[in-house]
Amino acid sequence: MRRFLFSDIAVIAATSLIVTVVQAATPPAKADVAVAVEVEVEVEVEVEVEVEVEVEVEVEVEVALSAAYAKYKDLQEGANADYIPALAKVDSNIFGIALVTPKGQIFSAGDITSEVSIQSISKVFTLALVMDERGPEAISQNVGVDATGQAFNSIVAVEQYKGAEMNPLVNAGAITATSMVSGSSREEIWTRILNYYGDFAGRELSVNKEVFDSEAATNRRNQAIAQLMYAYGHIKDNPAQATDIYTEQCAVNVNVLDLATMAATLANGGKNPLTGKQAMDIENVPEVLAVMATAGLYDDSGKWLYLTGLPAKSGVGGGIIAVSPGRFGIAVISPPLDAAGNSVRAQKAIADISNALGGNPYVVKPTE
Ligand code: DON
Repeated sequence: MRRFLFSDIAVIAATSLIVTVVQAATPPAKADVAVAVEVEVEVEVEVEVEVEVEVEVEVEVEVALSAAYAKYKDLQEGANADYIPALAKVDSNIFGIALVTPKGQIFSAGDITSEVSIQSISKVFTLALVMDERGPEAISQNVGVDATGQAFNSIVAVEQYKGAEMNPLVNAGAITATSMVSGSSREEIWTRILNYYGDFAGRELSVNKEVFDSEAATNRRNQAIAQLMYAYGHIKDNPAQATDIYTEQCAVNVNVLDLATMAATLANGGKNPLTGKQAMDIENVPEVLAVMATAGLYDDSGKWLYLTGLPAKSGVGGGIIAVSPGRFGIAVISPPLDAAGNSVRAQKAIADISNALGGNPYVVKPTE
């Protein structure tokens, strides 16, 4: 399948060049009317080409989404997370795909209305919030930005370097990042986090109370991880509150369009393409994407990057977001997970779609 936009941009650029050349080469005094007509014709051609290209691209994206949806709709691999009891009860058949471009075009296939808890995908946005508030060094110094090569809730990984050399996308680093969000009360911190996520999604988000209560009642391992990060000085104060807020952020409800819009905001320099709001500092976007590329799918991050080249993030609720910088944000929701905790159908569908659309930023044509 043809890779979209590279050649198309070249055609548009060439047409614009003709317009400029016509304008520059025409003597000003002689035939103003003729020049105007000529320029008008060229501009019309340019607009026509642009519209044609856009329609072609739209069809290509729609075809890629429908093909992936049809291919994986009946795939029965993986299982819902059940270590958080409420997640085991979520409908395993939910399967939705959405793609949003920096221009604000929305494409989708399957279930776009069902909501699941955002889970670990939230870690990306709390990371961005902490970077916005304190600068990227606060994260690299206090949390770390290296892959652990271990499961997302590994205690061995914390112990290895006394809580250093972690990253903000595994639980230890994520709870630490949450502990770094500013606010003079739990409520103030929480409101800041929830509103920040809402800026990325382009709407007000809310918490799935059942999931929050279910995880809060069973998250002893995360409580232990937070205590360790406190013991090693990375969490400065109140590890219990940091764990509780982290648990609540994981329980934020999202549908696949929310997730794709959040991903598209990252693909668009931190500006939400649907609302036009700059959701995060543009300077921090590359670091956030780098951490996603390094650790977004945990111990399978290398395999994922090898396959797609895309910064991404998964959640045990069944969502995955992926970002093709400047091109698109894509999300899939499908609850059954593989052994690493990543949605099976989401990985396959995103890889197929991105590869069909030329989304891998490492794929470049050599110069002629
Ligand atoms: O802390 C946990 O275990 C969950 N709230 C989030 C884990 C998660 O989503 C891992 N992602 N694949």
